[in-house]
Amino acid sequence: MTVHFIGAGPGAPDLLTLRGRDLIAACPVCLYAGSLVPKAVLAHCPADARIVNTAPLDLDAIMAEIAAAHADGHDVARLHSGDLSIWSAMGEQLRRLEAMRIPFTVTPGVPSFAAGAAALGVELTLPGVAQSVVLTRTPGRASSMPPGETLAAFGATGATLALHLSIQNLAQVIADLVPHYGADCPTAVVWRASWPDQRIVRATLATIQAALPQGMERTALILVGRALGAAQFDESRLYAPDYDRRYRPQSAGSPWAEWSEGDD
Ligand SMILES: C[S@@+](CC[C@H](N)C(=O)[O-])C[C@H]1O[C@@H](n2cnc3c(N)ncnc32)[C@H](O)[C@@H]1O
Repeated sequence: MTVHFIGAGPGAPDLLTLRGRDLIAACPVCLYAGSLVPKAVLAHCPADARIVNTAPLDLDAIMAEIAAAHADGHDVARLHSGDLSIWSAMGEQLRRLEAMRIPFTVTPGVPSFAAGAAALGVELTLPGVAQSVVLTRTPGRASSMPPGETLAAFGATGATLALHLSIQNLAQVIADLVPHYGADCPTAVVWRASWPDQRIVRATLATIQAALPQGMERTALILVGRALGAAQFDESRLYAPDYDRRYRPQSAGSPWAEWSEGDD
C-alpha cells in the first residue's frame, strides 16, 4: 500500500500531469483538498473509489483515513492544488507517514505562479531585468513569517515577486514594495488562473488597489516586478548567432565541438 501525493495543478483539469491522472485512476481511495482541487480531476477516480474531501478534516482525521486505507491494503491518491512543494501541507503528512512506516510517492503539479505567468503571457526572468523569482507570501491568520523573510528583504533584490495567500494584505504589500520597486512598477493580479472564470488586472504598484474589481479575493496571485512590463531587455546569449555552445559549436576548436549532448 502506498500514498501517492499528486499536484493537481492550478485549476484547469487538463493541466493535471499524465502521471497524476494515471495514479488517480489506479487508486481505490482518493483524498482531495476540496477548496482548490477541481472536481473534474476526480472524474479520473475508479467508479467505486472512496472519495473524501479533506477540507473540513483536521490532520488527525486525514491520517485516520490513510490508516484505514492502509489496513485494507488500498493505495491512496492524495491531491493538493498546484504543486506540492509550496504551501501544500504535505510536509506534516509525510512526517506522520514516515512515523507510521507507510510508503509514499510525490508527483509534481503545475504551480499557480506558472499558470499566472502563462495567463499574463510573460516570462518572469528577462535578461538584464530580473533573473530570480521569489515565491513568497505575507503573514496570515494561521501562519507567521520567519523573521528574515520580509518583503523589504526580497524587494531589495529587485527580483520578480510572486505573492501567494496575500491578496487580503494588498495595501501592506504595496506600502512595503514601493520604496524598493517604485510606484510605477508593473504589478498584476491573476485571480483563479486557468479556471473558466479567471480574471486578470494589470496596473502598477500605485494603481493596482483601485484597479481591482470587487470579488477578486482568496484565490489570487500578486505578481510584481519590472520584468512584467519590460519592452527593453537584452536578448538571451543562448540563441545569439556567435554564441559558442555545446549544441552549436562555432568552430572546430570550440571547447564544445566534441560534445553531443548536454543541458543547454
Ligand atoms: C495554499 S496555497 C497553494 C499553492 C499551490 N500549492 C501552488 O503550487 O500554487 C493557495 C494560494 O495559491 C495561490 N493560488 C492557487 N491556485 C491559484 C490559481 N488558480 N490562481 C491564482 N492563484 C492561485 C493563491 O495565492 C492562493 O491563496
